[in-house]
Amino acid sequence: MSQPAHTMPTPSTLRDRTVVIFGGTSGIGLAAAIQAKAAGAKVIVVGFNPEGAERVATENGLDGWRAADVTRDETIAQALADIPHVDHLVLLAGSFVAGKVLKAEVEYLKRAFDERIWAAIHTLRALGDRLSRNGSVTFISGALADRPSAQGTAVLASASAAMEALARGLVLEMAPVRFNTLSPGTTDTPLLARTLGANRDAYVAALSEKLPQRRLGTANEAGAAVVFLMANGFMNGETLHIDGGSRLV
Ligand SMILES: NC(=O)c1ccc[n+]([C@@H]2O[C@H](COP(=O)([O-])OP(=O)(O)OC[C@H]3O[C@@H](n4cnc5c(N)ncnc54)[C@H](OP(=O)(O)O)[C@@H]3O)[C@@H](O)[C@H]2O)c1
Repeated sequence: MSQPAHTMPTPSTLRDRTVVIFGGTSGIGLAAAIQAKAAGAKVIVVGFNPEGAERVATENGLDGWRAADVTRDETIAQALADIPHVDHLVLLAGSFVAGKVLKAEVEYLKRAFDERIWAAIHTLRALGDRLSRNGSVTFISGALADRPSAQGTAVLASASAAMEALARGLVLEMAPVRFNTLSPGTTDTPLLARTLGANRDAYVAALSEKLPQRRLGTANEAGAAVVFLMANGFMNGETLHIDGGSRLV
């Protein structure tokens, strides 16, 4: 007699799986790395800065680290060269590219797409059939994709929305590999201080007042959503919003 579904143990789908996280050395990616490791995965993080990547991997008992610049395809290929097999790939590396279409340097604006769309394409091509057909790929988008601002975020918003479309297309093109996108609202990570400098605290206070939960999301909350997208074998072609309801206000 088969066991009723509700009494079956939850399978630990990340146990002994190889997880590679680009952008896993800070913020949302690091939180996802630590949680995936706790769920039994072998986790390799990739960051821009080699010293930071090594330190973070050592401090958190991760299984490896690499450094790459995701805007340079040859460094992506080098970072992945000696990894025989990847079950779950997470692509979160990126910066806050902000500039108005009529004012900013075009080469700078292109970076929004280079760090996201082209980085994803180069990474998938570099991995080829080393990416498990039973595995998953998680992209990053952001609340801007749904609600751009007038402060020079149109290009970043379009690159973010394009990641969601790329994921849906690849669900069909690369089936049965699963593709999903995480779309966080403003999340309290080192990115904020790096982008806003001395204005960070004032920005966070003013934004928090407007948000339904009167606070920003945390890296741990967004990291848990990344782990959910990896581990749940029927999540596919989805954009998971984790924004505390910020799109409603
Ligand atoms: N925080 C938010 O409010 C928010 C909201 C929506 C979307 N996002 C997106 O979520 C992703 C993660 O954000 P976060 O807040 O966790 O940022 P974070 O703390 O600044 O972490 C960024 C990560 O990306 C890596 N990285 C940046 N540029 C890179 C490059 N050219 N090549 C390789 N690695 C690179 C960094 O490596 P190093 O540490 O070595 O520099 C780091 O591991 C970003 O794509 C961001 O745009 C963030």
